[in-house]
Amino acid sequence: LDRKVRQNNWEENNFINYKKMSENLAIVRSRLNRPLTFAEKILYSHLDDPHGQDIERGVSYLKLRPDRVACQDATAQMAILQFMSAGMPSVANPTTVHCDHLIEAQVGGAKDLDRAVNINKEVYDFLSSACAKYNIGFWKPGSGIIHQIILENYAFPGGLLIGTDSHTPNAGGLGMAAIGVGGADAVDVMANLPWELKAPKVIGVKLTGQMSGWTAPKDIILKVAGILTVKGGTGAIVEYHGPGVETISATGMATVCNMGAEIGATTSLFPFNDRMYDYLAATKRKDIGDFARSYAKELREDEGAEYDQLIEINLSELEPHINGPFTPDLATPISKFSEAVKANGWPEELKVGLIGSCTNSSYEDMSRAASIARDALDHGLKAKSQFFVSPGSEQVRATTFRDGQLKTIEEFGGVVLANACGPCIGQWDRRDVKKGEPNSIISSFNRNFTGRNDGNPATHSFVTSPDLVVAMTIAGTLHFNPLKDTLKDKDGNEFKLAPPSGNSMPPAGYDPGQDTYQAPPKDRNTVSVQVSPSSDRLQILSPFAPWDGKDALDCPILIKAQGKTTTDHISMAGPWLKYRGHLDNISNNMLIGAINAANGEANKVKNQTTEAWDAVPAVARDYKAKGIKWVVIGDWNYGEGSSREHAALEPRHLGGLAIITRSFARIHETNLKKQGMLPLTFSDPADYDKIQPDDKVDILCTELAVGKPITMRVHPKNGESFDIKLSHTFNEGQIAWFRNGSALNTMAKNTKN
Ligand code: F3S
Repeated sequence: LDRKVRQNNWEENNFINYKKMSENLAIVRSRLNRPLTFAEKILYSHLDDPHGQDIERGVSYLKLRPDRVACQDATAQMAILQFMSAGMPSVANPTTVHCDHLIEAQVGGAKDLDRAVNINKEVYDFLSSACAKYNIGFWKPGSGIIHQIILENYAFPGGLLIGTDSHTPNAGGLGMAAIGVGGADAVDVMANLPWELKAPKVIGVKLTGQMSGWTAPKDIILKVAGILTVKGGTGAIVEYHGPGVETISATGMATVCNMGAEIGATTSLFPFNDRMYDYLAATKRKDIGDFARSYAKELREDEGAEYDQLIEINLSELEPHINGPFTPDLATPISKFSEAVKANGWPEELKVGLIGSCTNSSYEDMSRAASIARDALDHGLKAKSQFFVSPGSEQVRATTFRDGQLKTIEEFGGVVLANACGPCIGQWDRRDVKKGEPNSIISSFNRNFTGRNDGNPATHSFVTSPDLVVAMTIAGTLHFNPLKDTLKDKDGNEFKLAPPSGNSMPPAGYDPGQDTYQAPPKDRNTVSVQVSPSSDRLQILSPFAPWDGKDALDCPILIKAQGKTTTDHISMAGPWLKYRGHLDNISNNMLIGAINAANGEANKVKNQTTEAWDAVPAVARDYKAKGIKWVVIGDWNYGEGSSREHAALEPRHLGGLAIITRSFARIHETNLKKQGMLPLTFSDPADYDKIQPDDKVDILCTELAVGKPITMRVHPKNGESFDIKLSHTFNEGQIAWFRNGSALNTMAKNTKN
């Protein structure tokens, strides 16, 4: 294990560290003394402190050292802006950025890409220059979708990756634990802070038998989603194992792991096997395959490893499935689908079929899809429904162009879109139906929530394998079952489509296509990061000011929020996403969804200095301009929802000091601490009721110490002042974050010392 094997073909100095991993694992093994699952092995071999770390599945918080970070262009903006504010010369861990989310599908590949490059020029210029400056690999627009690029270039067996996108688990197809996170987590790892994850439970899925005919790898996860539902994988890693694993291609395994995000799983994993080796070799990484073989014993579960839950699937009996509409866990086998369409009154005509995306655009997927299209063409038929293809990467596009699959698909009536997310993320200028008109579409994507693809809440969106998408597109109706139904050829003769066939990898090797990668330059000192001062989408962040060392006296309560206050109430999404790289602009959505206990209304609070009622952000800005620190009072589980870091950045930016609640959602609480805020809870939750929205409070910050409550002195408008005890969960390191103004300031300070 002493060999020096590079993590990938793009970076000179980043190596796979199986030696260190095996040493860490040995320490943990001697402590736990039981067989381990593969998921546990990857996590425990990446522990920051394998000796001292508490380890209990589903209970402890693991401090981990991931091998890599990956960001897509929408989430990378704020992550990099925050990283920049720490003033470090380069990222501490290997990082890549991928331009895939901002390209709208209108007419087809090249034209759509050109238009996107113009519209998003300032974002792309910023990302490309910031990546060059801070030693980050940059994949330009047109390169493909983040998860496909990771699989083709960066994933390796046993590695640990975090990515700022929920379908990061795709890399599980190469035996990498790849986990989707928020931007704040990515920044931590870029800045060399350990990354925290609640030790996941492990759900085992044992695969036996072998797929055939119309059944595809996608059907495994469509079936699992039906069994576990959208919540069933929460807090767990799904680990596939058993003899059936060997029968699935690496890209097929990636599809299964990718869509595992839909059941809420932390990630999904397959053990290292020969199929992965073959894929590594075909993508010019044979050395990694060989290295993994020498560490193979630890790249799978131990014999007798125990799962928190076990599911068995016999691939020989697995039917093709179609999931939806509106939720990815409503699984219907093809044999029952026509009935279900009738019984539920789903629109029968199929308007559009879409294949590709990060989930299903491998060479194998494209080849099988093209084989069905060819069969139809040979019978004089073309697509009856509209048909779109989103290639997952430039490499897959170029290779399937060279080998003819794309030509067949175009002949069949398909439109090849840019190598990007496109309609999967709603970047689709759909014109064939009006908003509100019920209609059906079917895709090989992973997510089919209401309105996701085309913004039309009446669109019934189904997800399935690319094979079934093509078959149904030929028939133009949801009632078609290619396993038993016939079609009429151009002469009116009935025929049955042949089951799909195709190579799992290109016999002539992959064609990389156009070079779309920008490596960081050798001399990064002269690079300047491009942000126009007049931009309304991007804004350089200044480090937050350190604590002034004093108690905060006479702070107004910006809002006493009542009831549910999720990260959506604190920092709404939708149209605001445009400003996610501009903290000042996006702060105009701060807490506009929270309900004010004073009047039961959203976004209407009293400015205590003027007595006027105004919007929450406006009042916060007025306090800030007057140099007044303010606090928020919140209810139970404040900040539940997503890990959105803007929900913590905005109150800090607009001059907030403390958020005082009955309780916090844990991730939001940590995010607040990271930004230098004080998340505090009422030691007696009933004290929430003692606070009136127009009280003033003193926060005795000088009392802040590990494990000790701090005092809040309340000055009611009319009446005697009184003290309330507030609890907190700050540890020593986190108290330094507060003192220095933020976690990043602390990192920067430590790096300089
Ligand atoms: Fe993009 Fe859709 Fe995948 S948004 S990353 S193609 S899930």
